[in-house]
Amino acid sequence: MSATLAGVRIVVSAGPTYEDIDPARFLGNRSSGKMGFAIAAEAAARGADVVLVAGPVHLETPAGVARSNVRSAAQMHAAVLAALPCAVYIGAAAVADFTPRACSPGKIKKQPGQDTLVLELVQTRDILAEVAAHAQRPRLVVGFAAETDNVAGYARGKLERKRLDMICANRVGVAGCGFESDDNALLVIDATGERALGPAPKCELAGLLLDLIKERLA
Ligand code: C5P
Repeated sequence: MSATLAGVRIVVSAGPTYEDIDPARFLGNRSSGKMGFAIAAEAAARGADVVLVAGPVHLETPAGVARSNVRSAAQMHAAVLAALPCAVYIGAAAVADFTPRACSPGKIKKQPGQDTLVLELVQTRDILAEVAAHAQRPRLVVGFAAETDNVAGYARGKLERKRLDMICANRVGVAGCGFESDDNALLVIDATGERALGPAPKCELAGLLLDLIKERLA
């Protein structure tokens, strides 16, 4: 029997962000959005009032979910903050850490003899950390950490630095897990310790994660 989340307002961010370089090009990443969409779908199926802030992905909007489409990290930041207050924020998006200082109004042309191009990038705002420090802080702020090595160590660092209640860490760069895959395995870390979830399909993991979240809300 699934834990019910009737009436609980949950904001989920999902997918990559695209940071425009010029009208034809952008900096992006390999997030498929599947994990965040699975969480939004499962939360809505359990009766939650779900807002899904989605980066540029071609995934169907889950039944009963209010979707806000964004492209850049700055747009995602604005949409997530506009969706507060909520009881739970789950930052499953792969937000760009850096964005071009300026988007060129015209297509950047290569010049004769030009071997290199230097792009100046500036740091984006950390949506998750800002939500966790916000005057309207949700009761639970949950982050994700995709790591290639030292998964638990880096994730624990992010949990503390960003003042989160829970972080879901996963290893990327291994076949059958993480970006683009339908399956995933998560190490969920909070003040009470660590729990390994999966490997399992992302929709099943979403349910297990929401069971933990429901417990923490009780
Ligand atoms: O520090 P790192 O980017 O690895 O942290 C990942 C977590 O932080 C994810 O939950 C992601 O959604 C969130 N994040 C964010 N805003 C950023 C960068 C990351 O909300 N600018």
